[in-house]
Amino acid sequence: MKVDQEKVDLVIRGGTVVSPSSSIKADVAISGQKISAVSSPGILPKAEYEIDAEGLYVLPGAIDSHVHFREPGYAYKEDWATGTAAAACGGTTSVFEMPNTNPPTGTLEALALKQECASRQAHVDYGIYGLLDENNIENLEALIENGVSGFKCFMGNTFGDLPAPSDGAMLEGFEILSRHGYRCTVHAENPSIMARRQARMEAAGRTDTLAHLAARPEVCAVEAVGRAVAFAEWTGARLHIAHKSSKDALYILKDAKARGVDVTVETCPHYLLMSTDDTDRLGGQMRVNPPIREPGHAEALWEALHDGTIDMIATDHAPHQPEEKDSKNIWQCDCGFPGVETQMPIMLTQVNQGRLTLQQYVQWSAHAPAHAWGCYPNKGVIQAGSDADIAIVDMKSGSMIDREMLHSKSKMTVWHGFQTSASVEWTLVRGAVVVEKGVLVGKQGHGKPIQQKMPTPAPRNQEKSMEEIVKIRD
Ligand code: DOR
Ligand code: ZN
Repeated sequence: MKVDQEKVDLVIRGGTVVSPSSSIKADVAISGQKISAVSSPGILPKAEYEIDAEGLYVLPGAIDSHVHFREPGYAYKEDWATGTAAAACGGTTSVFEMPNTNPPTGTLEALALKQECASRQAHVDYGIYGLLDENNIENLEALIENGVSGFKCFMGNTFGDLPAPSDGAMLEGFEILSRHGYRCTVHAENPSIMARRQARMEAAGRTDTLAHLAARPEVCAVEAVGRAVAFAEWTGARLHIAHKSSKDALYILKDAKARGVDVTVETCPHYLLMSTDDTDRLGGQMRVNPPIREPGHAEALWEALHDGTIDMIATDHAPHQPEEKDSKNIWQCDCGFPGVETQMPIMLTQVNQGRLTLQQYVQWSAHAPAHAWGCYPNKGVIQAGSDADIAIVDMKSGSMIDREMLHSKSKMTVWHGFQTSASVEWTLVRGAVVVEKGVLVGKQGHGKPIQQKMPTPAPRNQEKSMEEIVKIRD
């Protein structure tokens, strides 16, 4: 490959470049924000800035389809500077941020507020989710026009207590999104079952950690996943199932995929590596929605990753403060914990343990989300012409995760004390070095909105849609 010597700004030399289908020794040339060449070792001209990646692996930066950065509204838990600093230090170069902020991202004003926070502070590239709820169906198209990356529908309650939309509103929302090809992420848990069970347990005086799990049995997810798939299949809207935590609804997703429904699925490290066996150790810190379940679910989730039912790994990075997490009464512990900074070292440790290959890791952390969110091949791959979004990792140097070392405002991580055997050494976002030998060196404001091009929309049953039936006929 011919490389214009004048224009190479940075060369990564001596590393092993990983894609879902190969791991090859290659050097990577970067010109401006883009990768300009991936070439056999030793051929590329010398650049001003050289990274010695001898013995290291060169991966596409992770793309995390599920983070909560809390701003506007709860910046004391996290803001866009700290959340994206955590992402960068964890080798994550793109994030998709959730709308349960205050105000929730369901109006143009709220979106503008969030865009302002993000553009001023972000270290990594970002997509912003718009909310789909009962009262904002008429805003969805304007939110698309103004730059949301996709939508989030809270079918079940979680932090922020945004009420689940009615099925009627959800279906109408999907009808609209299907015409634009946008993907809707759902928090798939049935709210009325959960509310009734929690109320009964609270009335009976149950405040123990496992009461949270008892309030949200697997059937909540089975029912909600089934409903979301039905609406997506009927309307042709693209669907994304957030944080798959249990084995029970996997058959629905497998069948839906086999029928050609455009549904993508994520799971998170805590569902793959933890169970109720950790309850005594972690107590209320472990409270998360959906809950971490009994032993046995994790194995099924791993299998589902391997057979393609689950497409990708996300983190559901959900920062909270210590006083919000450490009550003896489980109902008073906020749900969730940070995860965007620890995902890559934790999952690479699993690679070292033989539970997945490095190529599969790249597939699940970068390639699949880039496809799902319409940003491939700009992102999610190391090849000439792509954005230079890169994580360079050392598969031989681990450490004990120490909450005090994390860049998130929240130190309430269930991963404190977890021994890793791999580390993120360098992170590049569109050609800029944002993490150098493990140290954040990037500047706030470097992160930009992710450019997306979703595949051609594939709406179905539009003749029976709300838009059609409200037309006056004579
Ligand atoms: O436990 C959770 N916390 N699950 C979610 O889905 C949302 C999150 C939050 O925003 O804190
Ligand atoms: Zn979440």
